[in-house]
Amino acid sequence: MGRNILLGITGGIAAYKACDLTRRLREQGHTVQVVMTAGAEAFVTPLTLQALSGRSVRTTLFDPGAEAAMGHIELARWADLVLVAPASADFMARAAQGMADDLLTTVLLATAAPVLMAPAMNQQMWKHPAVQANVQLLERRGVRMLGPGVGDQACGDVGAGRMLEPLEIIAAMEDGSQPSGPLAGCQVLLTAGPTREAIDPVRFLSNRSSGRMGFALAAALHRAGASVTLVHGPCALDVPAGVQAIAVESAAQMHAAVMQELPQQQIFIGCAAVADYRPVDCADAKIKKTQDEMALRMVRNPDILADVTQARPDIFAVGFAAETHDLASYARDKLQRKKLALICANEVGPGKGFEVDHNQLQVFWADGEAQLGPGPKTALADQLAALIGDRYQHDNA
Ligand code: PMT
Repeated sequence: MGRNILLGITGGIAAYKACDLTRRLREQGHTVQVVMTAGAEAFVTPLTLQALSGRSVRTTLFDPGAEAAMGHIELARWADLVLVAPASADFMARAAQGMADDLLTTVLLATAAPVLMAPAMNQQMWKHPAVQANVQLLERRGVRMLGPGVGDQACGDVGAGRMLEPLEIIAAMEDGSQPSGPLAGCQVLLTAGPTREAIDPVRFLSNRSSGRMGFALAAALHRAGASVTLVHGPCALDVPAGVQAIAVESAAQMHAAVMQELPQQQIFIGCAAVADYRPVDCADAKIKKTQDEMALRMVRNPDILADVTQARPDIFAVGFAAETHDLASYARDKLQRKKLALICANEVGPGKGFEVDHNQLQVFWADGEAQLGPGPKTALADQLAALIGDRYQHDNA
């Protein structure tokens, strides 16, 4: 079905391919509104793109005539999809910084539509850590990168950095540009990893959670079509592509981040190993070893999961129960006490649950249960995301 596609063209020799891309998109029945940056105009003219798109091309934020016809906010709302091709290194850097210094970056901030970018640049530039960091940041915020391709470049180099060909872009765009899967369109908030509770400026209490189970679950939920926000404690893991991440340290910070994100969510999953207690005081300076014994007074941390279900009784809440024994009875108790839709009992102990790559879960809900695994956490995460999708749809039917 034809969609309203806002085609952003930025400065690079691959801008000439955007002319053919415009023609091909129209052949597919899409309406194409071209927005060019100043850099793009150095390579192709707005007149060419106007002739190919059949619509006047927008080039500047401060054009009273064009703004009167369709203001930049209307433009951002009009788009069913924003495709930036080619996306230059400079453009991606500005977009990653959230700048709004021209029409195209402003539209990106103002649109709720999916954003796709087809990077194009010299292979050495593409490899640069600054460019890669910007790409990762954009992906974490939900931007989908199409390419780049590998091969001969206009500058004579060979390597990764070529813009995909117009037909390749269209094929990649149609393949998964709409979220699909059992959790399509669902907003999911997930906690993962350990928390750290400070004793003094250089010491803390923590636990063995690596974040592997939670990060794998975040990726699986994203694959299942959900829009995922991951609040995580200190973990040595990459945030999965397409997942929005918020890094915290302590249980109190995790609690604050979760409560801040909660209003717009439909599903909450507590996979983090949150410290139940924290030291009453964090010393201002490093504690010296002047005494043979030392006592640490601790105070209870807020229970994030319980506070979530209290603040949002309507939310579909999933808890984890890390237990060394009597898994089923502890898990069923937490299911009821914390008013959860599902609970995943996870046997833990030396070489089990925490830190390792494999796991198994016994999942309980009001009138059923399922055994997931044993298997790699990544495979279990996909099974759990499917089960959550199933139960969520059942409860909301
Ligand atoms: O990170 P990995 O190394 O991959 O290990 C994965 C895991 C074993 C940590 C994970 O699968 C797991 O079981 N997470 C829950 C760990 C836990 O703290 O369980 P619990 O039984 O103590 O807590 C019960 C539930 O309440 C959990 O959903 C927990 O996130 C939540 N909770 C607990 C305390 C607290 N103050 N706030 C909470 O929200």
